Amino acid sequence: MSVYLGIDIGTSGTKTLAMREDGEILATATVEYPLSSPRPGWSEQAPEDWWNASAKSVRQVLRKAGLTPDDISGIGLSGQMHGSVFLDRNHQVVRPALLWNDQRTAAECDEIERLAGGREALIRMVANPALTGFTAPKILWLRNHEPRNFERTVKVLLPKDYVRFCMTGEFASEVSDASGTLLLDVVNRCWSEKLLGKLQIDADLLPPVHESEEVTGVLTESAARTMGLRAGIPVVGGAGDQAASAVGNGIVRKGVVSATMGTSGVVFAHSDEVQVDPEGRLHTFCHAVRGKWHVMGCVLSAGGSLQWFRNQLCQQEIAAAKRRKIDPYELITEQAETAPAGSEGLFFLPYLTGERTPHADPNARGSWIGLSLRHGKGHMARSVMEGATYAMRDSLEIINQMNIPVREIRLSGGGARSPFWRQLQADIYGRQVVTINASEGPAYGVALLAAAGTGAYRTVEQACNATISVVTRTATQAAAKKTYNRAFPVFQQLYRSLRKDFSAITELV
Ligand code: XUL
Repeated sequence: MSVYLGIDIGTSGTKTLAMREDGEILATATVEYPLSSPRPGWSEQAPEDWWNASAKSVRQVLRKAGLTPDDISGIGLSGQMHGSVFLDRNHQVVRPALLWNDQRTAAECDEIERLAGGREALIRMVANPALTGFTAPKILWLRNHEPRNFERTVKVLLPKDYVRFCMTGEFASEVSDASGTLLLDVVNRCWSEKLLGKLQIDADLLPPVHESEEVTGVLTESAARTMGLRAGIPVVGGAGDQAASAVGNGIVRKGVVSATMGTSGVVFAHSDEVQVDPEGRLHTFCHAVRGKWHVMGCVLSAGGSLQWFRNQLCQQEIAAAKRRKIDPYELITEQAETAPAGSEGLFFLPYLTGERTPHADPNARGSWIGLSLRHGKGHMARSVMEGATYAMRDSLEIINQMNIPVREIRLSGGGARSPFWRQLQADIYGRQVVTINASEGPAYGVALLAAAGTGAYRTVEQACNATISVVTRTATQAAAKKTYNRAFPVFQQLYRSLRKDFSAITELV
């Protein structure tokens, strides 16, 4: 049976996975690398680290699974979205890449809106407003602040597309990741000549753009040697990590939505047509499925809030978990279970790193509101989980307002592993939630794209149907659902009440 590799160039490391044609996972390996923040709000990585980690993790996977280079029939690439790799004419990296969570480009976002003829005109051209994390503002930042580096730049690539170049020698991108540059005409699935013209960005800076399962090139001799593979293996377009993860979760038909609670939280809905939130709160991007789109909301600190709670306030639990050889989250969850739904009036706003959806506010901050003498650590733990989940519900509400059907919510990430958090999500979202048999995220999704793109399956949908199935279902509990329905509008109002205060607070520090 053929074997496919999925390589996901993440923010903390690159994960490679080997998948048999029937969907069975044979091995995974992750190689980590550092992230640097040379100034507050800046976030950079060395693209060369991504390439080295990709090669190393492929070698590890082959070794772990006992595979030979001849077993591999295709490779798919996924990666952190929106990053910018600037290459000079010798194809050398000009400066470290600016990442998706870099916040330095607020002025460039204003500049883009102005040059585009206003926010609405911009949304008409590329389906989305300018956000600091996106790629186009990064290009303008380089032009404005490092003109020498800008002059030297002949290509701008997304993270996974840089690794593709190292592997195949081809400059290429695909529609799902290209959507997050803010330079793609999302409706027509090609670069927006109109916006490029208005921003005076040379179209030659960008690589050709493909559909996600299309073969974009084959492995070169020298890359094959570095990766321990054979030359000539086809490399398909792949996808940005969110669309890739959606394919890995089987979010490839109308009505199926995913809620992924990782460090960030993402609500992702498939859509057969282009649907744009007129207020620009949700992103509208091309899906990794040919001729389909998706809308997506991104909560910057979802699971990240609970991680913060664990690291800062749960030293005792961490030590106890170590003694008992269990995960500290198990103990934190046990504590959270001692508090009732709604945490007796305690609310946590999860805006520890500002917020993207729905507020697009880098100044928003995390807070506990409603503390009283009655509240203990159990309430605090539960309120953090509730706050992160309310923030995800914000995106689901917008999806409802856009009349995109939500028939099934598939949970993944850390929030899907605990039965308690699954129940909490069902009760806050107000509907049954399910989990599926696959939990390897983006790397699995692009291995499926590689299988579909090299002929093992006719379509991406067929690849998903053959490999992905529902394994658990969690129904809502009437009383908790009622409590959360009453509490959710209060959660929403708290941000509105505090918005100006958050800005005043950020000016103090
Ligand atoms: C998506 C986004 C993140 C990054 C990093 O819009 O910014 O998910 O892709 O994972």
